[in-house]
Amino acid sequence: MEASQNLLQTPQNFMKDDDVSQECENLISSLPSEKDFMGRNLYNYQGSWYYPSRLQAILNFQKDFKARDTDIILASFPKSGTTWLKALAFAVVHRNKYAPNLVSHPLLSNNPHNLVRFLELDLYVKDQRPDLEEIPSPKIFATHMPFQTLHETLRDSPCKVVYVCRNIKDVLVSRWHFRSKVRNELYSNYSLEDMVDEFIKGDYAFGPFDNQVLSYWKVSLVSSKPVLFMKYEEMIEKPEAQVMRLADFLGCSFTEEEKQSGMVEKILELCSFGNLSNLETNKTGTSAFGIAPHAFFRKGGVGDWKNHLSDDMARKLDEMVEKKLRGSGLKFE
Ligand code: A3P
Repeated sequence: MEASQNLLQTPQNFMKDDDVSQECENLISSLPSEKDFMGRNLYNYQGSWYYPSRLQAILNFQKDFKARDTDIILASFPKSGTTWLKALAFAVVHRNKYAPNLVSHPLLSNNPHNLVRFLELDLYVKDQRPDLEEIPSPKIFATHMPFQTLHETLRDSPCKVVYVCRNIKDVLVSRWHFRSKVRNELYSNYSLEDMVDEFIKGDYAFGPFDNQVLSYWKVSLVSSKPVLFMKYEEMIEKPEAQVMRLADFLGCSFTEEEKQSGMVEKILELCSFGNLSNLETNKTGTSAFGIAPHAFFRKGGVGDWKNHLSDDMARKLDEMVEKKLRGSGLKFE
């Protein structure tokens, strides 16, 4: 109980379910709904499930956000490596302003979630029209919304979107640990098997997984909107190549001189799990959206699901993913 209280630094950010505008209430009354395992209502908006408070923030975003041409949006399903991608993108994009060293870089004194803020979990929760001017340009934002929910808002802008995905079994195990860390009193009766069933059914906050992953996968293949599709496993396996790919996509490729001077390796070291998770700011600090940063660092890496999921759970998830992704060309190794 104590540990979870420490993690929720500013509980007011988790708005009460009924703390929504009349407009949001009207919308909610027209949406399909389901109850989560605690009996809280979830609503399906543009293909994803949300609690009312999150819907309110999404509506705020959709009404107010005007994408600048240079904006960068980092998108992901929760627990897919968002924190890592935030750190890497920030370090890559701002490397001329902040040299990637282990002495004075902003990532050493501030956590990635404060440097790259979530739209619907942070900025648009607190404010219907947050002041985005204070964010240094190029502005980097993050989201867990599917592409179709961003689409209208970003349509007329050449801003760039980077999506990171991860094997669903590792996502699930990571989410399981995260939930028990952050809200252990609420999840004490909730087994890993319950979470597997929830994933199979698809009606959970920000789910279903396949709706989100495929929304970005499809536009990354065909759309005129620039979307870079990244995989956590590839980032772990070939970090240098993936960071260079990220820089190329963001229009700030590493020069030969930078490569020779070890710039890529320095950024990777700065943003590594080992470095970030051991920083005081990430061990004891607070994040702009209410969850203590250390909750975002657990183990890192690929394949921890093998230590947690039974053969039966893994088989059910594999079958579900195989069915949902069939024909899309997207595969998880
Ligand atoms: P595990 O729980 O499997 O360890 P998100 O940032 O989307 O919430 O994802 C959290 C997952 O990314 C956690 O996975 C966490 O440990 C891992 N992670 C956080 N920072 C990382 C980093 N710098 N490098 C690799 N993995 C990282």
